[in-house]
Amino acid sequence: MTTYTAINLIKYHERGPISPDYFQTVKLDKPNANAGELIVKQTYMSLDPAMFGWMNADTDSYMPPVELGTVMRSFGIGEVVESNHSGFNVGDRITGMMGWQEYFLSNGEGLEKVDSSLPDVDILSVLSLPGLTATQGLFNVGKAKSGETLVVTGAAGSVGSIVGQLAKADGLRVIGIVGSEEKANWIVKELGFDGAINYKSDELDAQLAALAPNGIDLFFENTGGPIQHLIYNRMNEHGRIVLCGLIAGYEKGEYSAAPSWMNAIRKRLTIQGFVMTDHFHNSQALLEKLAPYVLEGKIKHRSHVLTGLESAISGLNLFSTGGNKGKLIVKL
Ligand SMILES: NC(=O)c1ccc[n+]([C@@H]2O[C@H](COP(=O)([O-])OP(=O)(O)OC[C@H]3O[C@@H](n4cnc5c(N)ncnc54)[C@H](OP(=O)(O)O)[C@@H]3O)[C@@H](O)[C@H]2O)c1
Repeated sequence: MTTYTAINLIKYHERGPISPDYFQTVKLDKPNANAGELIVKQTYMSLDPAMFGWMNADTDSYMPPVELGTVMRSFGIGEVVESNHSGFNVGDRITGMMGWQEYFLSNGEGLEKVDSSLPDVDILSVLSLPGLTATQGLFNVGKAKSGETLVVTGAAGSVGSIVGQLAKADGLRVIGIVGSEEKANWIVKELGFDGAINYKSDELDAQLAALAPNGIDLFFENTGGPIQHLIYNRMNEHGRIVLCGLIAGYEKGEYSAAPSWMNAIRKRLTIQGFVMTDHFHNSQALLEKLAPYVLEGKIKHRSHVLTGLESAISGLNLFSTGGNKGKLIVKL
């Protein structure tokens, strides 16, 4: 192959669904690896809700936006096909921020060798961002304790489903909030959650009261939306709220008002946001915590795999419609 395909971001997103006019598909000449360089053939790339932020012109975030006219940012997995780098050999399996492109020329910076025999899809679904985020958020931020009650939103998603299963394995009572009956059934019947609430159904507060009769100690927030206020109002004294994501606002580009701080004073709550870019240096320790649960078969997952680089464009809209069933991944 002398050329390969890449997709550049050419317009910033403000609000509304993602359409093809935000991107330009380009054919590039395949590079050679010079001294100190390697080339990775990407096999699968991860789609993540964070991409809405990376596609936005706002520079006041934890990561700068993707520069217009350059390849769209993404995390992926692949195999080294050419190497002039002493640290990497042809055939090594690699993860890293490789972008929406078939081949990735690198000096090795930021790339990690995969130290697992699990298939590529499982690595991206569990042992990469979703599992690291769930582990960091639940244990290090949320300080989950056996016997407590956890409510997690986005509970059938890639992060939320792992949060709930880790918490179940550690003896918490786990209630998941989801957007469909199919997802509610999956997290209760397949993943072993104690209960599920479809936030599109009625009588949400009564459902919460029934499923969390002793109140809520830990709230892992992935979505935002009206149920946030109801969960917040049922927090127990010294409860913790882990702010991981607010996906209900990403496509619209606006976020609903948060609940009153009064309850945080009365109940002495700890409310903490976190982003994984602050914690990637600690990935090894997080994986050491997560891996035993995976090896013991306590973490099931679903992967939603799209095919072809350009499927990434419309694929991003699945996050907002709830159309993704599990970790959203593109097979190249
Ligand atoms: N802080 C960090 O470092 C970090 C790292 C990774 C991810 N995150 C955040 O974690 C969250 C989950 O990410 P993920 O990759 O695991 O995605 P995901 O949960 O697999 O997919 C997104 C899900 O969000 C739900 N959703 C969409 N619009 C919604 C709305 N208006 N109200 C309620 N739910 C809605 C949909 O599920 P339903 O069908 O159930 O509605 C959709 O399937 C996101 O907010 C993401 O930004 C944060």
